[in-house]
Amino acid sequence: MISLGIETSCDETSVALVKDGREVLSNEVSSSADFHKRHGGVIPEIASRMQLEAISLVVKAAFKDAGIKPREVGLISVTSGPGLLGSLLVGISFAKAMSYSLNLPLIGVNHVHSHFYANFLEHNGIELPFVALVVSGGHTSLFYVKDFDKVSLLGATLDDACGEAFDKVAKILNLGYPGGPLIEKLAFKGNPGSLRFNCSGGSKHPLAFSFSGIKTAVLYYTQNLNRPAGKTRAEDISDVCASFQDSVTDVLVKKAMLACKVKKVKHLVLGGGVVANSVLRKKFADTCRENGIKCFFPSLRLCTDNAAMVAGFGYQLFKKGYKSGLDLGHDLN
Ligand code: KG4
Ligand code: ZN
Repeated sequence: MISLGIETSCDETSVALVKDGREVLSNEVSSSADFHKRHGGVIPEIASRMQLEAISLVVKAAFKDAGIKPREVGLISVTSGPGLLGSLLVGISFAKAMSYSLNLPLIGVNHVHSHFYANFLEHNGIELPFVALVVSGGHTSLFYVKDFDKVSLLGATLDDACGEAFDKVAKILNLGYPGGPLIEKLAFKGNPGSLRFNCSGGSKHPLAFSFSGIKTAVLYYTQNLNRPAGKTRAEDISDVCASFQDSVTDVLVKKAMLACKVKKVKHLVLGGGVVANSVLRKKFADTCRENGIKCFFPSLRLCTDNAAMVAGFGYQLFKKGYKSGLDLGHDLN
């Protein structure tokens, strides 16, 4: 069965066609990020207006790219939350209209869960149950996944999401938006051991995260910048980026390993925009190898928001008997 996926939870408009939950026939992604850059973050009103303009064109492009016709589709899957209200409504409304006009079943999909599903589009051999870690601009969550419809939350961020911390630190350093790739690039030139930014990651719950403290520590450091003699401003910023990235990724690895130990699982599945970070990927690969855990990452284009993961995950839920009605609503949490 071919599932058509629609993803409009943030600033992307993405439409994909996926066969049997695994084979990506097309995956079109149109982003309004360039329009948000000048504001240093996503402006929800601009995002949803641009999604409204883009969505029909993106649907057409997805069909053209896959070389199939609408009558060959068997299911419409759509992100129903969490995300920005106006953006979600564009995708949900379009999905309902397609479901109604083509007389196809409709299914609403959780965006955060679909991020870890991205791995199933590219990897075989992921065994249930597994621990999943989703690290994105809006979420930092550890899950215990018994099955695609049996996902329980082990721990999440108590304040900022990890990607949000990357974006805010980049803003403090005047680097631009989105911050993650810009920090990663500068961090290559810096020394991760030169500064120590503490990122304990929440003391109350061992599997919860906290990223607002480290963001504030970077702010205070830059405000009182006491650069050692002989060090240029550029060198200092690269060191801040490298040290911030090092602390944050250490905490993610530590907590994910603890979750695998507590739940006694040997498979760890990662997803979300921050998982595109090469230092994070190497740390996870090395630590998992040392601990006898099999670790899975999506390729870079499937880490960030895309509709292929939505189409695939929707198919798996549909196969289990789930279905939404035309009264499908948005879920902001
Ligand atoms: O999953 P995603 O595309 O959207 C949400 O669901 O939020 O994640 C976007 C986040 C942004 O905060 C962005 O700065 C971060 O992912 N990101 C990265 C990298 N690429 C994207 N963070 C660190 N390193 C990267 N290479
Ligand atoms: Zn996302």
